Amino acid sequence: MKKVTVHTLLEKKRAKQPITWLTAYDFPMAQFEEKAGIDIILVGDSIGMTTFGYDSTLPVTMDLLIPHTQAVRKGAPNVFLIGDMPYMTYQVCAQEAVRNAGRFMAECGCDAVKLEGGREVLDTVKALIRATVPVVGHLGLTPQSIAMLGGFKAQGRDADAALRLIEDARMLEEAGVCMILLEAVPPEVGKVVAERARIPIVGIGAGPHVDGQCLIVHDMLGMFDAFTPKFVKKYAAIGEQIVQALNVFKEDVKAGGFPAAEHCYGMPEAESQKLRQLLKNTK
Ligand code: KIV
Repeated sequence: MKKVTVHTLLEKKRAKQPITWLTAYDFPMAQFEEKAGIDIILVGDSIGMTTFGYDSTLPVTMDLLIPHTQAVRKGAPNVFLIGDMPYMTYQVCAQEAVRNAGRFMAECGCDAVKLEGGREVLDTVKALIRATVPVVGHLGLTPQSIAMLGGFKAQGRDADAALRLIEDARMLEEAGVCMILLEAVPPEVGKVVAERARIPIVGIGAGPHVDGQCLIVHDMLGMFDAFTPKFVKKYAAIGEQIVQALNVFKEDVKAGGFPAAEHCYGMPEAESQKLRQLLKNTK
């Protein structure tokens, strides 16, 4: 796979070739995704829910995300890799944001970092770009703001809210972001944002008219069923297959079917005989 850069993604937008974006949190999944030719991997703070069992993304920290992001980069050296700025790693001040984003770039080899929000994060976005960190914006349903949004709810569903979101996208683009992820908004909103932007607009629940589609890999593979947003399409039922395989293993062990001869290490007959002899002289 040829290295995916910000230019590759811009070219895809211009050529109207849909961009594909998934999350990954570990080395094997990253390898699968690069093999499949996925353009972008986000090591999302959704790891808090998919992998660590929290009920939101808020407890996720830099120290938790860094080793996962490093593992994903090792598994997928050529995808466009985005580090996800955790809650309160960029909201306090631009200086802290630069320091934290710098860790994703220097310690993990990321191609960009993502942060949530519109007009309220413009100064931070500009500070990151001045510090040479490419930034991806995230608008619509921004999971780090669930306390303010009143839960995981679709956004931009009335004209005023939609207009504000469309303006936020323009402001982020003017501030210099290289791409925007648009989450859980009506297709009309996705269409306007994508049509007006020169940068790629990728949707996760933003309808079909955006420049690419993103999903959380545990959702689309059927590996996470605590809840499933409306925008998720399940492409496999891996969770069910895992439980099925584990049950077969359990029954096999109980019935003495595992291990069979082919799973055992051999010992030359002479050594086996010698061992039996030696054992006679020991307790
Ligand atoms: O953390 C995450 O996985 C996200 C998704 C919306 C892609 O930000």
